[in-house]
Amino acid sequence: MAKQKILKFPAGFLWGVSTSSYQYEGGNVNDWSEWEKSKARLSELKKQGKNPDDYISGPACDSYNRYEEDLALVKNLHCNAYRLSLEWSRLEPEPGQWNMAEIEHYRKVLQAAKADGLKISLTLWHYTLPLWLARQGGWTDKNVSQYFSRYTELIVKELGQYVDYWATFNEPFVVLGFGYLTGKFPPNRKLALLNALKVTRNFLKAHKQAYNIIHGAIPAAQVSLTFLTAYVEPANIWNPIEWAIAKIINYFRNDYFFKRVNGYFDYIGVDYYHHLRIVWYPPFVKNKNKLLSDFGWEIYPEGIYHVLMDYKKFKKPIIILENGVADARDKFRSDFITEHLRWVHRAISEGVEVLGYFHWSLLDNFEWADGYAMKFGLYEVDRQTFKRTARPSAELYAQICKNSEVIVD
Ligand code: BGC
Repeated sequence: MAKQKILKFPAGFLWGVSTSSYQYEGGNVNDWSEWEKSKARLSELKKQGKNPDDYISGPACDSYNRYEEDLALVKNLHCNAYRLSLEWSRLEPEPGQWNMAEIEHYRKVLQAAKADGLKISLTLWHYTLPLWLARQGGWTDKNVSQYFSRYTELIVKELGQYVDYWATFNEPFVVLGFGYLTGKFPPNRKLALLNALKVTRNFLKAHKQAYNIIHGAIPAAQVSLTFLTAYVEPANIWNPIEWAIAKIINYFRNDYFFKRVNGYFDYIGVDYYHHLRIVWYPPFVKNKNKLLSDFGWEIYPEGIYHVLMDYKKFKKPIIILENGVADARDKFRSDFITEHLRWVHRAISEGVEVLGYFHWSLLDNFEWADGYAMKFGLYEVDRQTFKRTARPSAELYAQICKNSEVIVD
């Protein structure tokens, strides 16, 4: 039998799970809930032979009501950190009108998490928008950064004391790409290039303004955003075309946003799921696909190491705020976690300052355009009763978090 090795993580390492409001809470009314019910969406699902009911977020995981139960699960996992997002549409259902009852709700959630000794990673925006804002153009609206600033000011004032790590945005370029180029997400625009430019500009501006607002009120705050990173490599390093395409894709997937907001982030929020092995012919990506998740995404743990090593150039600490796998039968998840952490540990041992790892996700949840079919949870959720049941990988993750170490062969 191969000899096992114990890889210890640094003292104070954050071990967490990652969640988001729309995918968990249930009962939200925003641009997504509206789009799910739109004629265009329903007829598209019908064409694909899919049952529309599986693509309506509806009650999600009912975490709005069951947050205490969820926090107990986080504790069962021996996590010392928890990532959640706020639902802007709940907090500001009409322009400039705050729903203070919802502030109180989030205060209770954050206080309960704090009482459990958890460090909080709070995301201000995870893909969804209040309806009023979506109707006036969403991320293309010329005043959107001011609206986001106004919302940020409220959160800093009301809830800032509970937050350890701020993320203004979760993966702005996912909404840019799916919302304005491929049309897979609302507002469902295809190849809307001019709008895509506006959206980019507004995200950059809104992030910088929010960074200043948070720091103005809480000078020691740790503020960043998350980015959906990818390990991009040419299939053949000696092929100049593949090399050049890989460079360009790498720039936009991993570097562009952080370079444009240089001076406006205190750490780097990494979400890692994807490996892109670039070839010179369409569709330009050809992975070896030895292991595939239920989503059809290649499982490629080594990639996280390359992403982390590459981010050394920014000379900022890194927090892995998402990494996980769609795996309904829990066939891969334990190895997935172990192997990714093996590579994270290697990056740390080679000088990358990684402050923490948050697994996506605590529970099976609403997986956006893919509805409820994709199961990312350490805990399974019964869609009728909402009962949460631990998958075997939850036990492994709990051991890792408890001992702050991973055992590898
Ligand atoms: C998103 C999550 C999503 C996960 C899996 C991430 O990019 O932030 O909301 O559920 O990917 O697709």
